[in-house]
Amino acid sequence: MKLNRREAVKLGLMGVGGLLLPFDSSNSALAQTISDCPECPRGEIPPPTFSQEELSHQIPRFEYPFKKPPLLKPIRSYENGERPLDCYEITMKKAQVDIIPGLKTKIWSYNGTLPGPVIRQRGGFRDEDQGRDSLVRFINKLGTSEENGAEIPINTSVHLHGMASLPEYDGYAEDLICPNQFKDYFYPNDRAATIWYHDHAIDRTSRNVYMGLAGMYIVEDEEERQFNLPQGEYDVPLILQDLRLADDGSLIFNDRGQRSLYGDVSLVNGVPWPCMKVARRKYRFRVLNASTSRTYDLVLSQKENRLTPGEKMYVIGSDCGLLDAPVELTSPLQALVIAPAERYEFIIDFSQYDLETNLYLRNPPFSSSSNIDSDARVQTIMRFDIERDEPDNSSLPDKLREIKRLDPNQAVTTRKFRFQRSSTQWLINNKSWNKNRVDANPQPGDIEIWELTNNGGWMHPVHIHFVDWQILDRNGRKPLAYEGGWKDVFRVDHFETVRVIAEFGRRSGDYLQGRFMMHCHNLVHEDHSMMTQFEVGQNAPSPCSAPPLPISEITPL
Ligand code: C2O
Ligand code: CU
Ligand code: CU
Repeated sequence: MKLNRREAVKLGLMGVGGLLLPFDSSNSALAQTISDCPECPRGEIPPPTFSQEELSHQIPRFEYPFKKPPLLKPIRSYENGERPLDCYEITMKKAQVDIIPGLKTKIWSYNGTLPGPVIRQRGGFRDEDQGRDSLVRFINKLGTSEENGAEIPINTSVHLHGMASLPEYDGYAEDLICPNQFKDYFYPNDRAATIWYHDHAIDRTSRNVYMGLAGMYIVEDEEERQFNLPQGEYDVPLILQDLRLADDGSLIFNDRGQRSLYGDVSLVNGVPWPCMKVARRKYRFRVLNASTSRTYDLVLSQKENRLTPGEKMYVIGSDCGLLDAPVELTSPLQALVIAPAERYEFIIDFSQYDLETNLYLRNPPFSSSSNIDSDARVQTIMRFDIERDEPDNSSLPDKLREIKRLDPNQAVTTRKFRFQRSSTQWLINNKSWNKNRVDANPQPGDIEIWELTNNGGWMHPVHIHFVDWQILDRNGRKPLAYEGGWKDVFRVDHFETVRVIAEFGRRSGDYLQGRFMMHCHNLVHEDHSMMTQFEVGQNAPSPCSAPPLPISEITPL
């Protein structure tokens, strides 16, 4: 079926007053060059702030109740035309939240909460999917932050990580929304997956995301519904973050001289070490690692301080949607390794346990662990208290979505990217970020193999925008079973070469073109400056071709 995304955009345009004209990527008459990106004032990056006094040892464990992030409803929907459009509004603003009850923590937020609200949307392009488009208006009311005595504007850019957006809606790092500006982002909701939106401002992503600018976005489709997986209240986001809090509750941003940032408070959906009361039945968990640098090795255990054998989780999905079959992981040896920005979905069947059993989600230090930091305080994440019986009509099918394997013999080229540390910076092929340089130029429809090599020292979770990939091998060996689906983030461990394969430009059923970023998703590495870009096709417009507008020009959606 030929879908008509651009028609939908135009339809949205006709219905929506004042909406910015989304440029057609094929129309190079509208093209700008990258250097036309408007410059917001950036300021110097201050040295990290330290505090000896830290709160984490005083925070009780497994006492604060688990909570889900709030669900965001559209403020307006347009049902007519080929594809309905839902309009959402998110204000980026400073807020005070109770991470620790009784203490106020200042954050930079999407709509005032930590993490931001969850958007759940119907996607897919087959008729039965009844897929919809989204328009999300992001309004920057963050103002300024004080750095070394100067007031620096908090500029933002919003990336919906896991969506094949047009370049001008992809949160390009130089496409900044300055304070008192807003931008309408258009999202095609092309396929079902657990994805997330987060800040992507040039040089400042690690700080902005750490301060609170992250939220989950879930796309569902009809095929997924047919698998009868746990749904509704049994379909649960788990957004993992590690933070550092001073005694007065304020956030401490310490990136250890631009190396990495490790917190000593482990949070799930903004709550430190929560306790979730569950029924004896199956639950589907969507776990997102929204931490700056930390990788987690997730294992279930009946004990807080050691691993009990035989606890099972069934991995059913990864970054870009469902796997082709569940992958069973059994404690104590099989962990689910999740690096920054990765998403995995798994089912836990609590009916395997007696009432009043406690089950811990742990992050023990495995020898294989990719972390430099193995703080004992973040070795346990949360507790499930199995406290009631409830009926369960959901299933854990043997087979899930069929995954068509891309054939390496059809690749038109292999490109090599080396991730390495220089004396002062993080680099890709010895180069730092330059918005005027493009390092790869695949053509729409091309199948390519990219070889990602790590020269050692640190693990790099490499993220490539816009396309879904399959991992071919790690140092010539098969990837882990749960890495067998579609992915957009790849752990590239010390002295490892990971080969990945993709078909460019075709995900939305249409061939899209444009410039997109690739970078390490250890956000400290990304900022300093392990990031590059590739261009799909020729002469596509600049990713800055739909600039933000001043708030004074807002018209209702
Ligand atoms: Cu999740 Cu380019 O980022
Ligand atoms: Cu992305
Ligand atoms: Cu890195």
